[in-house]
Amino acid sequence: MILVTGGAGFIGSNFVLEWLAQSDEPVVNLDALTYAGNLDNLRSIADDRRHIFVHGNIGDATLVADLLSRHKPRAIINLAAESHVDRSIHGPEDFIQTNILGSFRLLEAVRAYWSGLPDKSDFRFLHVSTDEVFGTLGPDDPAFSEDTSYQPNSPYSASKAASDHLVRAYFHTYGLPVLTTNCSNNYGPLHFPEKLIPLVIHNALNGRPLPIYGDGQQIRDWLYVKDHCSAIRRVLQAGKPGETYNIGGWNERANLDVVNMLCSVLDELQPRVDGKRYSDQIAFVTDRPGHDRRYAIDARKIEAELGWRPAETFESGIRKTVRWYLDNADWVENVASGSYRDWIEKQYA
Ligand SMILES: NC(=O)c1ccc[n+]([C@@H]2O[C@H](COP(=O)([O-])OP(=O)(O)OC[C@H]3O[C@@H](n4cnc5c(N)ncnc54)[C@H](O)[C@@H]3O)[C@@H](O)[C@H]2O)c1
Repeated sequence: MILVTGGAGFIGSNFVLEWLAQSDEPVVNLDALTYAGNLDNLRSIADDRRHIFVHGNIGDATLVADLLSRHKPRAIINLAAESHVDRSIHGPEDFIQTNILGSFRLLEAVRAYWSGLPDKSDFRFLHVSTDEVFGTLGPDDPAFSEDTSYQPNSPYSASKAASDHLVRAYFHTYGLPVLTTNCSNNYGPLHFPEKLIPLVIHNALNGRPLPIYGDGQQIRDWLYVKDHCSAIRRVLQAGKPGETYNIGGWNERANLDVVNMLCSVLDELQPRVDGKRYSDQIAFVTDRPGHDRRYAIDARKIEAELGWRPAETFESGIRKTVRWYLDNADWVENVASGSYRDWIEKQYA
């Protein structure tokens, strides 16, 4: 039995689906179902007895202690978080509550449970973090390695950095067998349409502008979500407690290039009815405050020590992603209803 937190979100739901496709080991899935969590993501395993969904907060110490003593997981994968940088700029409070306090309370409950286990060294707490904790890079700087110092620039990345430090401290102070992964930007199926790639696909198909912050030359590394899931499984299986592992796709791209690529795949797979190109919808908007210029991941450690490499190229991953959104318009409609629809209508009023 493993416990996954945040398993109704983008990466979490992909992880749970992939896990159950690869193994018979059951999963307890603890998720608060914020705007970003959606049970529709888990529709295909609704009747699968290996999946136990629990609606709740990682910061609820009583609930977490009860889940741990009842299900006795051998590992925890912590994916629950507030994850959207723009939202952290407009309202950092939720990020402090979940990413810092929530992670702290989770760690405390886990420490109490773990200290009573007969085989303490077999247990794992795997914490999923981001490359954004490392700050920003110049065009010629070497990519972030596991030894790069933390320099977070947004409330989101600062809150993730704080939780990473707590996780590290629980290893050094209490001996809790932790693993931390720092990954680059994920993309793929089940991605909430507020993030760049699904937002562009969604807006393109709905005839809306495709917003590009500033000059669009911000560079990110892109990782197909299923590659990320296989990397987490590999780190869980073979990672050394106390170590951190960078996970990247070896795909550095400028945002504008990503959007142009999405437009040309859409032009091919679902051309506009008026015969124009989707790239005509591109609209440059004021840059995000404190917008990091470049992130790049050096993922050589996980390859050398654990033998993991991503399976997808950016071209193959993007094509699969666009195809998925075209085939799952009902999912997009569903998650983009309610408060999110009100929010997006306001952006494009
Ligand atoms: N998406 C990316 O590109 C990316 C890149 C690097 C790291 N990460 C990290 O990976 C993790 C998952 O990211 P994601 O993109 O799937 O995020 P997401 O926003 O899609 O999903 C987060 C999930 O956590 C749940 N959640 C939020 N607060 C909670 C709480 N207090 N208790 C329990 N559940 C709660 C939400 O309901 C949601 O289901 C996060 O820790 C994020 O920082 C994401």
